This record gives sequence, C-alpha cells and structure tokens, in this order.
Amino acid sequence: MSDLLTDAIRAALAGVLDPEIKRPITDLGMVRSIDLTGSHARIGIDLTTPGCPLKDTLTRDVTAAAAAVDGVATVDVVFGVMSAEQRADLRTLLRGPGAEPVIPFAQPQSLTKVFAIASGKGGVGKSSVTANLAVAMAADGLRVGIVDADIYGFSIPRMLGVTRQPTRVDDMLLPPEAFGVLVVSIGMFVPPGQPVVWRGPMLHRALQQFLADVFWGDLDVLLLDLPPGTGDIAISVAQLLPSSELVVVTTPQVAAAEVAERAGSIAVQTRQNVVGVVENMSWLAQPDGSRLELFGSGGGQRVADNLSNLTGSEVPLLGQVPLDPRLREAGDGGYPVVLSEPDSPAAEVLRGVARSLAARRRGLAGRSLGLSPAGR
Ligand SMILES: Nc1ncnc2c1ncn2[C@@H]1O[C@H](COP(=O)(O)OP(=O)(O)OP(=O)(O)O)[C@@H](O)[C@H]1O
Ligand SMILES: [Mg+2]
Repeated sequence: MSDLLTDAIRAALAGVLDPEIKRPITDLGMVRSIDLTGSHARIGIDLTTPGCPLKDTLTRDVTAAAAAVDGVATVDVVFGVMSAEQRADLRTLLRGPGAEPVIPFAQPQSLTKVFAIASGKGGVGKSSVTANLAVAMAADGLRVGIVDADIYGFSIPRMLGVTRQPTRVDDMLLPPEAFGVLVVSIGMFVPPGQPVVWRGPMLHRALQQFLADVFWGDLDVLLLDLPPGTGDIAISVAQLLPSSELVVVTTPQVAAAEVAERAGSIAVQTRQNVVGVVENMSWLAQPDGSRLELFGSGGGQRVADNLSNLTGSEVPLLGQVPLDPRLREAGDGGYPVVLSEPDSPAAEVLRGVARSLAARRRGLAGRSLGLSPAGR
C-alpha cells in the first residue's frame, strides 16, 4: 500500500520542473527519498548547489505536487546537496557524454537566431535596446538569452535586476533568469566595484565560456550586447558565432552615424549580415505634441542607406526610439520599459523591432570566416 503511495508521489513529482533547468526533478536525479509515515510524506530533494536560490520555489512546487496525491495529508521537504558524482551525472545528462563543451549556437543544426547589438559610439543605448528587445521577445513566448559581451562596461544585470550568480553544476553554469530571459554577464563573476583588466585573448576566452560552458537549453533567440566600437570582442563574436547577425544602434547625430557605419562595416570583413539599424534617442516628445530633435535627425536612415550600399544588401531602419526618461528609469530600476510602460511610444517601437527580428529567418550557419589563427 505504502509502495503504491510512494509511486504515486513519485509520479506527481515528475510534474515538478527544476526552475533553472526546466526539466522534471525526477529525471535530474534530484528526488533522493520519499518516506511515508501514515499520511505524512517526507520528501528529500538534492540540490545542485547548497545555496540554491530557488529553494523556495522548489519547496512550494514539491509540496503542492505531493499534497495533491490521494492519501497524502501533509508534506515536509528536506534538502540535501548533490554529490560530486551526481553533479557529474547531471552534467552528462544535460550535455551528453562529450568531453569538450561546444558552442551550441555555432553548430550547423542550431535553430537559434543570434543577434549582436553593436554601435560605434558608446552610450547610444545598445544595452537598453538589448534588454528591452529580449524581454519583449520573452513576453511573446520566445526562449531568449542574453550574453553581456561588454566585459569592461557590463550593464545588463542591473537593467534586468539580476543580482544572482549562475549556479555551477560540475563545470557547467546555469544562468539566472529575469522576465523569462536567461542572462550571463561578466558582472556576475567579478566582485562589485572591481574593474575588469583583461587583454584580448582573455576576452575571447571569457566570451567562449559564456557561450559554451553555460547551459542555455534550446533558445529561439540569443542577443549579445557588444561593447562600443569595433574591437576584439566584435571579431571574437564573428569567429565564435559565424551565423550571428548585427543590429546597429545609433543616435540621429551625424557624428554618431559616421561611427556607427564603421561598426557596421566590420560586418563586411567578418562576412556577417547586418539585419538593420535602430535609431535611438530620436526625439523628445513635447507637451504640445511636437518633437524636439535634441540630437538632430536622419542619422539612423543614413546609416541604413550607407550600410545597404556597403554590404550590397538591404539594411532597413528597424525603428526610431524616442527619448523617454521612463526608459532610463526603468533601466536603472531593473524593470525594462517594455514591461513597466508597455504603452509608451518607446516601448511600442522596441516591441515592433523585437517582433521584426523574431520573424526573420535564421542567419546562414557555419560559414567559415577564414580568420581563425588555427586555420580551420
Ligand atoms: N531612448 C532613451 N531615452 C532616455 N534615456 C535613454 C534612452 N536610451 C538610452 N537611455 C539612457 O542612456 C544611457 C546609456 O544607455 P545604454 O547604457 O543603453 O547605452 P550603451 O550604448 O549600452 O552604452 P555603453 O556604450 O556604455 O555600453 C542609460 O542611462 C540609458 O538609460
Ligand atoms: Mg552598454
């Protein structure tokens, strides 16, 4: 009788997903024990790591699932931690038995669309655009990840209110999630307030780890928030993710537009697609409804036209995002404007850009760049 009840509880627990890995806890080897005393069930759960931040969620879900079983009146959840061996098994289960972690998005069979958000000048709104596009896509039901590839000037964790570190399972990292978006940033690995002083090869290695050592699951879209300019990271992205496509962010200003073109033109050298241009800070709406063009006008269209000429394929202006103090406040507060003020004009434009990117076909995969020193 009690065996039957134990089986029924185990079956019910198969409906509980690990909040990070999104698979049944029974498949992941997390259910250590089910002990019954009359109608009281004591359930032992092994966590991937002792400080698992998602304990509360698990307690709630496990309790609810077990309590719903006929014959169970009360439930206790007791936590333990996986042994090194269990963690290694879990890693193999998720990753497959292969030794070296590979970048899933660089595999020819990958279905993930990869967009790198680039600009020439700093401070034009790349990170704000990245964060908003990601949460807008997630709100539309897509599985989305962000790699904050701005190693020196990371800002994505703040913009999405992520304070948690990735969970380590053996040599694999489970990224934290915010608003349905998986996020990895160097900001999660350096002590607060400490500058990152790394040189090119280390940047490349860090980016490679973000892509290969992190368990991303099946993503529909991966966004990379690039640092400003045309530096090492942009080249690394092109090498590590040959199918990635660029979204260029600029302001309407002529000077910014010129620099943005340069950033876009590296795509010609790296043979990446430029999918479009986002003009940000386009105007400030006045109380009388007129538009104050603080940074001039026409920069976004100009970059789109010139990049179309340069690349020989149509590079559209995907949207013009107005200046809006609410966008900045939302970013500072870790709650992006497409969620906090979904009806604001800025949010509407960003949502439109997100949808047009999501609707694109995936970039051509696996094109060799001929840039790799290993001469692949
Ligand atoms: N449309 C907008 N309206 C109001 N404020 C904005 C807008 N876009 C961006 N900002 C603000 O401008 C600042 C710079 O934006 P953001 O950090 O997104 O730019 P960036 O291009 O990523 O900068 P960096 O080159 O330093 O990485 C932020 O404080 C952001 O909140
Ligand atoms: Mg930034």
